[in-house]
Amino acid sequence: MNTIVSPSLLSADFGHLADDLKMINESNADWLHIDVMDGVFVPNISFGFPVLKHVAKLCEKPLDVHLMIVDPDRYIREVKDVNGHIMNVHYEACRHVHRTIQQIRDAGMLPAVTINPGTPVCMLRDIIKDVYMVLLMSVNPGFGGQKFIEHTTDKVAELRRLIAETGSEAIIEVDGGVNETTGEKLVKAGADALVAGNYVFSAPDPKAAIDKLKQLDR
Ligand code: DX5
Ligand code: ZN
Repeated sequence: MNTIVSPSLLSADFGHLADDLKMINESNADWLHIDVMDGVFVPNISFGFPVLKHVAKLCEKPLDVHLMIVDPDRYIREVKDVNGHIMNVHYEACRHVHRTIQQIRDAGMLPAVTINPGTPVCMLRDIIKDVYMVLLMSVNPGFGGQKFIEHTTDKVAELRRLIAETGSEAIIEVDGGVNETTGEKLVKAGADALVAGNYVFSAPDPKAAIDKLKQLDR
């Protein structure tokens, strides 16, 4: 199985976004990962929908939108309007996560739920059959280039078991500190998709870095 690779725009060169998006379009990346931060849910602010509108115009890959904002259901329309393919919302940031998942689906997007390193996998039991994907954070969200939290591989295996046990079809994505080494452990533990920011954009050959992650196999 080829791993799904979702390079994170957060590590791109914001002074030359068009060049980096061209590289992504020409690469074997499956999706483009978009990190939206509000400075409240996470201690950082990235970019918002006025910027995303232009990114969406230039990007030919489906957008994997990761909202690190409180009450993300307020922005379902905006994500849809920038042609969001997957809308990732944090379990910890939703008051009614089940309702939010339904609303994302009703809007015509694929719903994904994200959990922080401190949130246990068992919290997903009652929504696991309703989501297209679970995004496991392998760093505390807010910044690129952080160190991978090793315990995440155990969480991937635990989530695999929960998915099998419940008959869910959810796929597993992991975000934070992903490189060839951590990526290999994650894929072996059962991850389907890898987000990579720093590893891809600081590589001498970003397209080759994407290919290295894509070639990881169980
Ligand atoms: C962190 C973001 C990540 C980030 C990953 O809050 O959700 O998507 O861009 O960056 P790396 O791969 O550099 O850890
Ligand atoms: Zn992210």
